[in-house]
Formats: sequence, structure tokens, C-alpha cells
Amino acid sequence: MCGIVGYIGPKEKKEILLEGLQELEYRGYDSAGIAVIEGDKLHNFKAVGKLENLREKTKNYASEGFGVSIGHTRWATHGKPTELNAHPHLGAYSYVVHNGIIENYQELKKELQEDGISFLSQTDTETIVHLFEKYHNAGATPFEAFQKTIERLEGAYATLLISEAAPETIFFAKNGSPMLIGFGAEDVYFASSDTPIIGKANEVYYLEDGEYGYVENSTVHLFDANGEKTFVKQPLIADKAMAQKDGYRFFMEKEIYEQSRVMGETMMGRVLEEGIVLDELEEGFFDGINAIKICACGTSYHSALTSAYLFERLAKVRCDVEIASEFRYKEPLLTKDTLFITISQSGETADTLEALKMAKRAGLKSLSICNVDNSSIVRESDTAILTRAGIEKGVASTKAFATQTMVLWMLALYVGQQKGTIDQPTLKQEIDAMLHTPKALVVTDALHAKLHRLSKRYLHGHGFFFIGRDIFYPLALEGALKLKEISYLHAEGYPAGEMKHGPIALADSELFTIALMPKTMHYDKIKSNVEELSARDATICAISPLPFDLADDFVQTTYSSHPMVEFFEMMVVTQLLALEISVRLGNDVDMPRNLAKSVTVE
Ligand code: F6R
Repeated sequence: MCGIVGYIGPKEKKEILLEGLQELEYRGYDSAGIAVIEGDKLHNFKAVGKLENLREKTKNYASEGFGVSIGHTRWATHGKPTELNAHPHLGAYSYVVHNGIIENYQELKKELQEDGISFLSQTDTETIVHLFEKYHNAGATPFEAFQKTIERLEGAYATLLISEAAPETIFFAKNGSPMLIGFGAEDVYFASSDTPIIGKANEVYYLEDGEYGYVENSTVHLFDANGEKTFVKQPLIADKAMAQKDGYRFFMEKEIYEQSRVMGETMMGRVLEEGIVLDELEEGFFDGINAIKICACGTSYHSALTSAYLFERLAKVRCDVEIASEFRYKEPLLTKDTLFITISQSGETADTLEALKMAKRAGLKSLSICNVDNSSIVRESDTAILTRAGIEKGVASTKAFATQTMVLWMLALYVGQQKGTIDQPTLKQEIDAMLHTPKALVVTDALHAKLHRLSKRYLHGHGFFFIGRDIFYPLALEGALKLKEISYLHAEGYPAGEMKHGPIALADSELFTIALMPKTMHYDKIKSNVEELSARDATICAISPLPFDLADDFVQTTYSSHPMVEFFEMMVVTQLLALEISVRLGNDVDMPRNLAKSVTVE
């Protein structure tokens, strides 16, 4: 997730920016940069990799006197992590930093290119600075030019812009990505979260979506659709650890809550009313492809399993899924009409990477779905689709799973479109459902409180069975994996229809069954599977939009229009249940014992 800092005032600016960016390191980044304007002097530095590289580049520079300045840490989403793609982006006389995604950047870029403007980077951000200069060159005042620019942007953004055209001003705007303004005694700060301004500012204003404006001589002018407005500052909390987690107790908890927002970013510019657009895949990418094989590990394997149902059902393409460590040693038969997909949050998982190399040696076309650009798996693949989840700090994966599953769902529709195997009404239905998923991922206070209350009943017992059918079977596997990772309790995911072929022998009141009972997918079948367990006195926690009398505990879900929307809502329930059980057991939620975030050994 990118990070933004900004400063306007008399103090030395380089150090303020670098210190601020350092405080944002926890959000993850692959390049960084700063830009400063003091009087008529403009300075810009960028570096790929760690902040020390930027520090080294700026070691002979220090700002003097009053000035304006912006800085950025970038987590690549459009374009590789290179110096040219690092922010701040330069026009002819202005600089911009931006978090989020400009959904209509291609259309804007084309328009600007037709006006003769050349682009240096592959980013969506660069369009902002060129648009601003276009309007300014046409006679608008700097603020009017900024206003007009913001009006043209679609998507999510938090952005800061400085320009020689107004050397004592910082322009700002926020829509969908977080940004705040910090107030010191004689100066003003900007940041994408509290941490960079703790110890520097005393008061803060958290910008709302749709707000924009400018700061001149320490005075903030704030606007929204209704014109200039007043605002109320609040005291700044000073707990950095708390601020890094945006006030949540654990990174995992923060990441569960973030899912609704990041899912929006995953879909941005890709899920359109008329169909799925994946710029990453060149025209004809699926020509000659008749089957898909997916390799992954752990949670990523579970998203792959989910997608196998979608590829076959929606795109009518054969799809099989293998655990990467098994695939490597089974002497698999590979044919060149198979697309080889790897899924990995980190892009560094050794078994997945080796499986990919094997497939490449066999001459297969490869695609990776990954959260980290320039990671080994992305570099090794013919092409990659990034999940745009932002850095995931909690060892137990949550938002990476959600966004992987979303990308795979999009890909299934894309394949259907390309091959002509999906009809228009189905495509439309799927897209409508997709656009609903961010809502289904919102964690309400009532839901969290319910799972907190309920969790106290599930701290013992001789085991958990998570059961589901169809796509809810991989979700059951994932729910069980989450629980065992952070609670250290034994949990298994099972296809509901398979319980009577053995595991039902374990059923008694100390066997906890978490039953995923969606309304839109084989409800009656799973209901009878759960009844069988209940008849043997198993303790049942049912998750369903439909009330179920035999449940000992019942979590009622809200959405029942489409299986995938139900899937994502139930996913949140299982994540919160695992989290709350782990907290009650006093475990380290973010760093569970024996586990590492990235498994780079076999
Ligand atoms: C579970 C978890 C792991 C990873 C697995 C693969 O919460 O995080 O099971 O999913 O180690 O990692 P990636 O996706 O980085 O290849």
C-alpha cells in the first residue's frame, strides 16, 4: 500500500519527509521519492528499493527556509517498481504524489497524448500532473486547474500536488484512499496515516471522500461539492503502534476490515458494466488454450480450488488444481494447450516457484496471480495479474485470499468472454454480483460483537469440522486453516457430503461443526448433512441467511443473491471467529507460533 507525506512550513523538509516515509515503511513499498519547492528552486529525488537508497541520494541536500514538499512510498500496481515509475511524478513544472487507482487513466492518457504530451512512466498517477498543467497552460489559475483535474478523475485517490505556478501552495484531494492534515505550531503536514505526524503535529483533520483544497501560508482552504467549508480539528493520538494498525488490536484484524476497500481496488478498471478488462493479458492470450492447471500452497491453494469450480462452470474450461509441493515430485504430464497459473501472495514461495519453473521447462504458457510486483514468481511468469491487496502483515492470510479469489473469478469471466463460452445474461449477473462484494465484506459492529460473544463457547473440544459444498468446500478448508493457524486448535475442512463416509464417527457434543449453509447453493443437501451431525449430538454453529433450528449457535448472514457474494460474507465470519478464539486463548494473532509469512524453503 503506498504512503504519502507532505509538509509546508519553515523547517528543514528533507528530514521531515524521510522520517515520515520511514514511519510508513510498515505499509510496504518498492520505491520512494520526494520533491521540494523553495522559492524558485525545485528538487526531486527518487530511488528504487529501501529508503536508505533515497537517503543516500539526498545526502548532500538540505532544504532552507520556507517551502512546500511532498514524498511517497510506492507499492507497484500499474507498472514495474522502477525509478521512472516512482512518485513524485513530474510534469513541466509541477509534481504529484498519489495513492489509489485512477480508473479512467487510459482514456485520460490517450487524450493528453493526442495533445502532444509524452509520458515518462507507466503509472496512472502521471495523468494527474499533466492534466493540471494542461488546464493551467490554457489560462486557469493553479487552483482552478487543480479543481478541473480532480473533476476528471474516476476511481480512488489521495493526492498532493505542488507546482512552480504556485510555489507556496500544496494542493490536496481525497476520494476513497485515506489522507489527513496535521497541524503544528507554524506548519501543516499531510500523511496517509497518523504515524508520520505523531510527535510533529498536535492536531489533525481526517479528510472525507470528495474533499479537496489547498494550503497557503499555513492556512487550509477546504472544499467539497458544495464549495468552501469549515472543519473541526481533533487532538492527535500519540500511540504509534496503535496508529500503524489504524486503531485495531492486530494487523490481521485491520486486514479483515480492509477487505471491503481493497476489493474495490482489485476490481477498479477491470470490472466494467459491459465486461471484464484485463490489460495485463495481451489480445489472443487464450488462443490455443484448452485447459488450466493451477499450483499454489496454503491459503492460495484454497483460492485456486474455489476458482476451479468457476473456470469449469462459467468459462467451460477444464481446470485442475494441485498443491505445489506435490506437483513438483509427481512427474506430471503437461501438454502445451494448458495454461499454467500460479497463485501466491508473496510471490516468493519456494514450492510454487519451482512448480512454475517446471511448467516453463515443459513449454507451458504461464500466468501468476500475485500481490507483490517484481517478486520471483511474477518475474518468472509470462505475465502476471496483481491482486492489489496492499501489504499483508498478519501471518494468517485474509485480504490476500479475498483478492486472489476475486481476480480468479474475474479471470473465469474473462476466459468465458474470450472463448465465447459465457452468455451475456450470465456475464451481466456475475458482474452485478461482483460489484456487490465490497458491501458483503463490510464488518459491522453487530457481527463482530456476536462473534466475540460466541467465541467463548469454542475454546476447547476435540476438534472442529468446517463443512461446505461446492465453492463453500474450499472456503471450509480456508476457515479451518485460519482457525488452526492462530488458535492452535485442531480443525479440518471437509466436503459436507463426505462426512458420512468416515468422519461422522467422531461426532459427539465435543465435536464442533461450523456449517456453511448458503441459500444459493445446494441448501437442502447441506441441511441434511448438518441434520445427520446434529442427530449424533455434534455441536453445530451454522452460518446461513436462513434460520436453522437445529443449530446450537447461529450466525445469520445478510446476502443471499449470489453464491460468490455469500461466499465472501461467510469468509469474513470465519476469519472473525478464528481471530476472536485466538484472542481469548491469549495467542499472538499476528505472529502465530512456528509460522512465517513467506516460505522460501522447500
Ligand atoms: C495461511 C497462509 C499460508 C500461505 C502459503 C502460501 O494463512 O498465509 O498458507 O497462503 O504459505 O504463501 P503465498 O501465497 O505467499 O505463496
